[in-house]
Amino acid sequence: MLGRTGRDVTVVGLGCWQLGADWGDVGDEQAMEILGAAVDAGVTFLDTADVYGDGRSERFVGRLLRERPDAGLVVATKMGRRSDPHVPEAYTLDAMRAWTDRSRENLGVDTLDLTQLHCPPTPVYSRDDVYDALDTLVQEGRIAAYGVSVETVDEALTAIARPNVASVQIILNAFRRKPLEEVLPAAVEAGVGIIARVPLASGLLSGKFDESTQFAADDHRTYNRGGDAFDVGETFAGVPYEVGVRAAREVAALTPDGATTAQLALRWIIDQPGVTTVIPGASRPEQARANAAAADLPPLTAEQQDELRRIYDERIREHVHGRW
Ligand SMILES: NC(=O)c1ccc[n+]([C@@H]2O[C@H](COP(=O)([O-])OP(=O)(O)OC[C@H]3O[C@@H](n4cnc5c(N)ncnc54)[C@H](OP(=O)(O)O)[C@@H]3O)[C@@H](O)[C@H]2O)c1
Repeated sequence: MLGRTGRDVTVVGLGCWQLGADWGDVGDEQAMEILGAAVDAGVTFLDTADVYGDGRSERFVGRLLRERPDAGLVVATKMGRRSDPHVPEAYTLDAMRAWTDRSRENLGVDTLDLTQLHCPPTPVYSRDDVYDALDTLVQEGRIAAYGVSVETVDEALTAIARPNVASVQIILNAFRRKPLEEVLPAAVEAGVGIIARVPLASGLLSGKFDESTQFAADDHRTYNRGGDAFDVGETFAGVPYEVGVRAAREVAALTPDGATTAQLALRWIIDQPGVTTVIPGASRPEQARANAAAADLPPLTAEQQDELRRIYDERIREHVHGRW
């Protein structure tokens, strides 16, 4: 169950950022094929945002909802980052109502299943008027529930303390372990759902990249490597690329027969107590299918878990643990 939404979702969902922009060229037909592959594989949870391709991703998801009305889908979107400048003062009731209405139109629904504050400036997570406005949107029937997407564990803990926050979306993967310490236990205690994002560290944890891999100019893995466009933690989970490639080779050595390294990485997240759903993004239908199948793998062995901990401690921790 996805926290206080009361809705059941699959442990593997689909991240829909790739269907909007920022990941090179994902064509219209390809976008619909990725969605179809995920649904055919049984996925029932989709994560999108109003800002992904400025509504492009939401509109594809809306088309899917119309084409597959019986698929039992739960759709989470996000709001806030279309404001310019993106400042705390932008988060007013009127603005949130307008953002929500645009997402309702893009998705073609009366009531959004779940909307999330999209990594707002840190002070927003502490403001009573923001949560009051979100409660108002629930009362108005515009949204069924709300959650937050966060950059840091402190932001997550601040939001979990609020009574009506249904879910927290946070970066959690084999290269981002800090949420295991306090965030997951606090979420379990409060009954808040955890949506684990960037589960493959933007693809690094598939083990398929090397030092010579090139990404397209309009792919954030090119233009946001230094954090020039948004928080650098969203690109390769904030791990310097070459460091991540080397560490991913060691992760790949743990891959069991009959599975892929990406599936191993996803299964590790699913196994963490407190995780509700993990939302890998996919730029091709085969990826969406393979990622859904990670739910069928057996849990990792103690040896695999120990090795992942060692790789993090020796190679990754110094780059990320103190920052997010
Ligand atoms: N601030 C926020 O709230 C926020 C920020 C970031 C992400 N998100 C959400 O979280 C979702 C997931 O994060 P993400 O998409 O950034 O990163 P991710 O899931 O860690 O990485 C996605 C990338 O990994 C590669 N990949 C996926 N499945 C694969 C497989 N089976 N085998 C090999 N490679 C595979 C693909 O790279 P290639 O395209 O190179 O093949 C894909 O584009 C997003 O789609 C979005 O919904 C939210």
